[in-house]
Amino acid sequence: MNILIVGGGGREHAVVQAIKKNPKVEKIYALPGNGGIADDAECFPIKATDLDAIEEFAKSHAIGFAAITQDDPLVLGCVDRLEALGIPCFGPTADAAIIEGSKVFSKELMKKYGIPTAESETFTDAEKAIAYLKNTDYPTVIKADGLAAGKGAVIVNNFDEAEKTVRKIMVDRVFGASGNRILVEEFLTGPEVSVLSFTDGKTIIPMVSSMDHKRAHDNDEGPNTGGMGTVAPNPYYTEEIAEECMERIFLPTVEAMNKEGRTFKGCIFFGLMLTPKGPKVIEYNCRFGDPETQAVLPLLETDLFEIMLAVRQGRLNSDMVRFKEGAACCVIVASSGYPEKYATGYEIALPETKEGEYLYVAGAKRDGGRLLTSGGRVVGASSVGRDLKEAIAGAYALAEKIKFENAYMRKDIGAHAMKALQEE
Ligand code: AMP
Ligand code: GLY
Repeated sequence: MNILIVGGGGREHAVVQAIKKNPKVEKIYALPGNGGIADDAECFPIKATDLDAIEEFAKSHAIGFAAITQDDPLVLGCVDRLEALGIPCFGPTADAAIIEGSKVFSKELMKKYGIPTAESETFTDAEKAIAYLKNTDYPTVIKADGLAAGKGAVIVNNFDEAEKTVRKIMVDRVFGASGNRILVEEFLTGPEVSVLSFTDGKTIIPMVSSMDHKRAHDNDEGPNTGGMGTVAPNPYYTEEIAEECMERIFLPTVEAMNKEGRTFKGCIFFGLMLTPKGPKVIEYNCRFGDPETQAVLPLLETDLFEIMLAVRQGRLNSDMVRFKEGAACCVIVASSGYPEKYATGYEIALPETKEGEYLYVAGAKRDGGRLLTSGGRVVGASSVGRDLKEAIAGAYALAEKIKFENAYMRKDIGAHAMKALQEE
């Protein structure tokens, strides 16, 4: 069968490597893919948001199944378009992807169905938002409604910062139409957990939990990034908390979407905060996380492509989703200066991998036989270990062997998780 993947980051590389193991998968096309994915799939320079071109491509390449793993094509309705051509897809239709595409939608959903989340107010008018912010407690959180490449949530510490942020989002429109509406949200505290889950709209099966490291520098300093590394499982996410989340968050979310006539099929990602008052939803994503996927999929024991087929066909069951014992860690090797200014075009030398080691390429392009840096996050080095300590050591040993000029990585991926384990 010919498979189409829409997306082009490290997450997509991890998905491609996982589905390639299935004998039904003959050929994988990735749009646009990247210079590293090109080792495992045939890549074409079609943007993940160019739905017309994706449709044309799919028509002429006998695609038997498509997996759309990036947020913006999902929100734009890539699944709707490909399904209309008769191509079965993994991923939600646009009316379900709105759970990530609109934070106002997801907040209203949670309020309506009693799913625990931060208190918030919605504003469509900058002056009204600013007036409200004069009399609120700080810190508080301001969020643009729509997609904003992971930069749409801003924690502000005083009225001055709040006013500037509102003007940037609603007046200067730094995130475009995503800033037509904003949420002003209660500031929550507690460890964060990412839980990616498969759902076919009836059954929901969480994957192993994970922990992202969003800040650019060690000790969680510096600007927010797309994620500088991950570990799985997340030690804060105990079995007891997992049960509570299933009852109070995961199942109610699936049911709520069904009741709204927006059945979600695919991977739903719960961004949770374990607050002193219990787990609360910080955000929903309508897709696999990046770089969570690069730590979660190496632990998946069962077959990802079979799971994807089962999700699409509405026959998902828990036997299909099993994870290995042990732990995994992914360390992102980035271009120095990311997420702000950084140079690209440097040649990358990738090491050989042993069993339990994975290289997931994100920001790299081919130039003849050479692989050159082309983005901020360049390669993810993932490793599986018997425990978290071994996984972290393995990921760093692999990451150190990835060579290019200007390479930068955090040195403390997994340190919080290790500390949490030692305190248990
Ligand atoms: P989001 O774009 O919604 O994932 O938010 C990005 C990051 O901002 C989250 O991972 C949290 O670290 C932080 N954040 C978002 N909402 C809140 C909140 N209500 N309270 C505290 N931190 C938050
Ligand atoms: N790592 C967070 C995300 O994928 O949105």
